[in-house]
Amino acid sequence: MKIRKAIITAAGWGTRFLPATKAQPKEMLPLLDKPIIQYVVEEAVASGIEQIIIVTAGGKRAIEDHFDRSFELEAALEKKGDKALLEIIRRISDLADICYIRQKEQLGLGHAVLTPKDLIGDEPFAVILPDDIIESTTPCLKQMIDVYDRFRCSVLAIERVESTEVEKYGIVEPRAIEERVYQVLNVIEKPSPQRAPSNLGIVGRYILTPQIFEVLEETPPGKGGEIQLTDGIQRLLRRQAVYAYEFEGIRYDAGTPLGFLKASVEIAIRRPDIGEGFRRYLASICQEPVQNRLGVLQETATAVKKDS
Ligand code: UTP
Repeated sequence: MKIRKAIITAAGWGTRFLPATKAQPKEMLPLLDKPIIQYVVEEAVASGIEQIIIVTAGGKRAIEDHFDRSFELEAALEKKGDKALLEIIRRISDLADICYIRQKEQLGLGHAVLTPKDLIGDEPFAVILPDDIIESTTPCLKQMIDVYDRFRCSVLAIERVESTEVEKYGIVEPRAIEERVYQVLNVIEKPSPQRAPSNLGIVGRYILTPQIFEVLEETPPGKGGEIQLTDGIQRLLRRQAVYAYEFEGIRYDAGTPLGFLKASVEIAIRRPDIGEGFRRYLASICQEPVQNRLGVLQETATAVKKDS
């Protein structure tokens, strides 16, 4: 069966970005001038997904407004004669067929995936975590759909992580099938480096069979009192084969301030309109000893204080 639908989970609190996320969704923070969530919606569309279901929560209205039409803004741009910007704005609302469902309580990623169960029905589907921004020649989700089409089972995106980092990921115990493709024998959520069965960490792209709903319904809350998707997957692989795929591309963990910053910088240096100037600026500040620069900043701060 074709993968037609994708769930984007966007109901989390985004506590790592507080206070920025106190009154606005983490998913609307911009990487340069485009909100995080638009990157993953574009990836889904480029991968052939026909319907996108965004799982939201209270305080996330800005996401719906972003993908909706804005007649006033369009009229204003039309009046100004700014055709290029008008085109960009219109394209966002025409991007995809999107529907929204609220997760009434933030009970974890597994619970978020379970929320749109009835909208998915009895067919395999994709799950995208907008925290992970993946740049690649072939969209990451498309690569995974190709693996699904050949093996007809759930497929998890994986990446090699540093052994010091395994504690931050769901780690798979792999059995090699072919280049980049593994059967998952077990998954362990955030193991210590000693307990990790490999350094292959699960990242935010999944193709799942509808049986995941049955197992998630039986999955009790795990770490942090939340229903973990990893725990559901562990139950699923006892019933049917689950594969993992080491995707081709670069992933940025935009769910952490450092990863977000790295993604912003890399996207900016590649942009034709500002890339060159930004590269020169970065080179100039990197050449200057940090202490000098901090000194200048401190002097400026003291001067501003005195003036006020
Ligand atoms: P995270 O664990 O990164 O949580 O969720 P978070 O709330 O987004 O961010 P922090 O940790 O507080 O900074 C991983 C993904 O699961 C979604 C999040 O929106 C994110 O896409 N999620 C998590 C839900 O949709 N619902 C939940 O109950 C929990």
